[in-house]
Amino acid sequence: MTANFVSSLSNALPSDLKRSRMPAHVAVIMDGNGRWAKQRGLPRIMGHRKGVDTLKKLLRCCRDWGVEALTAYAFSTENWGRPTGEVDFLMTLFERVLRKELREMMAEDVRIQFVGDLTALPETLQQEIDRAVQETQDNQGICFSVATNYGGRQEILQACRAIAQQAKSGQLQPEDINEELFSRHLYTANISDPDLLIRTSGEMRISNFLLWQLAYAEFYITDTLWPDFDTDEFHQAMKAFQARDRRFGKVDETEGE
Ligand code: FPP
Repeated sequence: MTANFVSSLSNALPSDLKRSRMPAHVAVIMDGNGRWAKQRGLPRIMGHRKGVDTLKKLLRCCRDWGVEALTAYAFSTENWGRPTGEVDFLMTLFERVLRKELREMMAEDVRIQFVGDLTALPETLQQEIDRAVQETQDNQGICFSVATNYGGRQEILQACRAIAQQAKSGQLQPEDINEELFSRHLYTANISDPDLLIRTSGEMRISNFLLWQLAYAEFYITDTLWPDFDTDEFHQAMKAFQARDRRFGKVDETEGE
């Protein structure tokens, strides 16, 4: 009975998508929560609250359709510049969501991790993060990364500092520094680079997100505001991705000269 109930909730892969051509890693900039709320005469925080539901549905859909990793930009190093009330609300929201969803993440075999400088987050949020990361660390399903107090430039700088320190102490030589070694010093060391970046609300910006890792990602930008981004829209994004010709800077040798 329970099994049927759960499976009836899972998303079947649409027939026009190929499982073998699904992106292994999807990254998402969840933009437009504030505008979604404003359009409805609601406070901005209501948009963030609805945004959590959208993220939960996307995570489940990614898992069901064979995406191995999802990374969501929840809070940037620049977001501290927002009104104190909104920042406080977001920190409390992250904490509450983690506490509330942990059981479900375990049931759905989700491994959660956080990327960013977590030391600046409220102590109680850091504790909740540690708990969720530890409890889900052996899960084998989708890897869900939450970028929190994350900045791409800050991430690159901290990697440079760590590598420079090793060079200074003689642990490595400057000529040992290559892309593979550099990637190992990023917060995302254990996951492949994103194949696809989705950004909602029509902005054509990267906003300091995964600057190194997005080097060869495909971009899908939609005018839809994040709270309205649903499975149908994700299906459109997957169709667009599967139609792309990814050459990674090379030429297709079957083409004429
Ligand atoms: C951008 O919209 C959204 C954010 C800065 C917050 C996103 C956070 C969530 C959806 C919650 C995720 C929760 C967990 C636990 C991962 P905006 O406020 O910039 O919208 P606007 O551009 O319309 O003002």
